[in-house]
Amino acid sequence: MDKEGSQLIRGLEGVVAAETRLCDLDGKNGRLAYCGYDIEDLARRATFEEVCHLLWHGELPTAAQLDRTTVALIAAREIPRELVQAFALMPKDTDPMRALQASVAMLGMRDPDGTDNSRAANLRKALRLTSQLATAICAHHRVRQGQSPVPPAPDLSHAANFLSMLSGTRPSAIVTKAFDASLTLYAEHELNASTFTTRTITSTQSDMHSAVAGGVGALKGPLHGGAGEAVMRTLLEIGEVANVDVFSERALAEKRRLMGFGHRVYTAGDPRAAILRGMAEEACRQSGQFKWYEIAVKLHARINAAKKLIPNVDFYSAPLFYSLGIPVDLFTPVIAAGRIAGWTANIIEQHEDNRLIRPRADYTGAGRRAFTPLDKRA
Ligand code: ACO
Repeated sequence: MDKEGSQLIRGLEGVVAAETRLCDLDGKNGRLAYCGYDIEDLARRATFEEVCHLLWHGELPTAAQLDRTTVALIAAREIPRELVQAFALMPKDTDPMRALQASVAMLGMRDPDGTDNSRAANLRKALRLTSQLATAICAHHRVRQGQSPVPPAPDLSHAANFLSMLSGTRPSAIVTKAFDASLTLYAEHELNASTFTTRTITSTQSDMHSAVAGGVGALKGPLHGGAGEAVMRTLLEIGEVANVDVFSERALAEKRRLMGFGHRVYTAGDPRAAILRGMAEEACRQSGQFKWYEIAVKLHARINAAKKLIPNVDFYSAPLFYSLGIPVDLFTPVIAAGRIAGWTANIIEQHEDNRLIRPRADYTGAGRRAFTPLDKRA
């Protein structure tokens, strides 16, 4: 307890800071549901478009509602020409998450609903941001490689269109399904660091684009969404299944932080990792890159046996994304392309029942002391 009777809780661990109807996360039993629907059902049986509708409206869409949401998402795919021009002006080695954060800020300047925080305006902005984020990620990637952006294809689903805008070729139905399910698995996860950031910004009555730009910044870090890229770099460093034992022993001896392992809330296991493991196995086999799955499975077994650490969502998504042909430094932007559905739903929820988020800090600095004029300081 500090002198004003508050308790210091480092990292806000275990603190309940909001009420939500969006995500039911049971860490002890390793269960996760969006608006009451189990994550496994949603990943396997719903499309990302249905999940967006569910998070924004609280109910799965009827066929007519899904049509309307899909048509509106497709209509919102274009990004302003000035944004593409800005990509060309950015240094070629600009981190794609930095480019994405700048994109969100620029999209905010152009959004017809501007700083309107009404529910109707926020629903329109959520939809536009979801579509435009995907286009911006792919356009930036193409431009940094000296290529022209691939225009959005109105006859493709959100997931298929993303992959088409990235590579310039239309993905197969199997690849599209795996990518679509990944977006759903990443769509929402209660008060993770990036979503909490969006809520904190929203709580000042700031607008959706400002909150999402902050969320992108939080997601970028390696302890959060940035872990997936680090997992893939680890798998590439290991290189062969035969090297896993030596790598694990050295990493454990050096007490390295192992990316893709551990979770603040899940103790029994991350249900998303279990689903992604099956998807990674299939995708790595189909793409002829099965060794990345095998290395991951063996690393998982070694680390779990030695430290009882569980793989989190970012562990098996790494070999999955790699085998789908996604460049490693786009793994985190891809997570953002899924999480945008949850960020925007949380922003809407926060606006509807807002209280400024403003915790306290326990002061540990110098005691009160006399001011020293500049010319008297040593
Ligand atoms: N590698 C090695 N040791 C670990 C790991 C890990 N990945 N995760 C936790 N531990 C150990 C810590 O060293 C610590 O041990 P100690 O008590 O002996 O010092 C203990 O477990 C507790 O660790 P904390 O960091 O205090 O746990 P916290 O709840 O803060 O961490 C986190 C959660 C940040 C996810 C952590 O497990 C981690 O750094 N994992 C690697 C990064 C990662 O994969 N992030 C993605 C998370 S999912 C997502 O955001 C999309």
